[in-house]
Amino acid sequence: MRDFLTRLPKAELHLHIEGTLEPELMFELAERNRVRLPYADVEAVRRAYDFDDLQSFLDLYYQGMGVLQRREDFHELAMAYFRRAHAEGVVHVDLHFDPQAHLARGLPLAVPVEGLYRAMRDAERELGLSTGLILAFLRDRPAEEAMDVLEAASPYWELIDAVGLDSAEMGHPPSKFEAVFRRAKELGLPRVAHAGEEGPPAYIREALDLLEVCRIDHGVRAIEDPELMRRLAAERIPLTVCPLSNLRLRVVRELGELPLPRLLEAGLVLTLNSDDPAYFGGGVLDNYLACQQAFGWDEATFLGLARNALEAAFMPEPRRRELL
Ligand code: HPA
Ligand code: ZN
Repeated sequence: MRDFLTRLPKAELHLHIEGTLEPELMFELAERNRVRLPYADVEAVRRAYDFDDLQSFLDLYYQGMGVLQRREDFHELAMAYFRRAHAEGVVHVDLHFDPQAHLARGLPLAVPVEGLYRAMRDAERELGLSTGLILAFLRDRPAEEAMDVLEAASPYWELIDAVGLDSAEMGHPPSKFEAVFRRAKELGLPRVAHAGEEGPPAYIREALDLLEVCRIDHGVRAIEDPELMRRLAAERIPLTVCPLSNLRLRVVRELGELPLPRLLEAGLVLTLNSDDPAYFGGGVLDNYLACQQAFGWDEATFLGLARNALEAAFMPEPRRRELL
């Protein structure tokens, strides 16, 4: 099964590029950029990755990305991830990045965007990977700031495949970002949003109705709302679920508690993704393998999940036809 799942052409639709920062690279960049880290060594970093919930992870995630200072750092971060993903049979990646987190540290928007964009083109050329770029807004910051970032990104609108919504979910419903997402729609940008990770099913409904998203990131709490499940299935809205993330952020106590088999039976379009692989102990393949262990799914089920991801990915149609 491991061989089958490795060879299976997989698309990763839910990945935060800043969450691919492995402790080894964090230390290298800290030294190079003279950033002080509150850890003695790589082992101490790994020991600190014991999270109680989403917020306790986000605190370390925002701190860790402080070592990213120059275009070259973002390029190196993304290339290291693309190489690992390619080695585990990933053929396409839609990557989120968090511009506000970098602007708040005094970096110009050009630094992350241009560093990442060059890595995306290099990965296409060197590894044959296709990639999509998702500019994510931090929902725990003011909506006006998100709007300013969207406008400031005008030189890059052409390079962006979608906008997204991430960070601390509770108390920050999608409705807060209705105007920002309306503007993104006017610009012709597709929209995705995290919803129903820690937040209630009502946040998933808001993301659909008010933000007009084409995919829901996470969405596992849809299981609490049968009517919403019927709608997600009927409209074929993909959920980008991240099992190891849910485990490490204690959305569930064990993987077997995740409602994925019931969501599949109800006809929902699920995809398997890694979210923040450096923090949650595994990439896409590890997430597939963990589901095999927890749910005993057969090859046909995994083929279907991988196909869902290829169908829902931000990629040019000729590329999709080549992969499907
Ligand atoms: N949830 C919300 N925001 C995030 C995550 C996540 O899992 N990872 C990075 N930002
Ligand atoms: Zn996420």
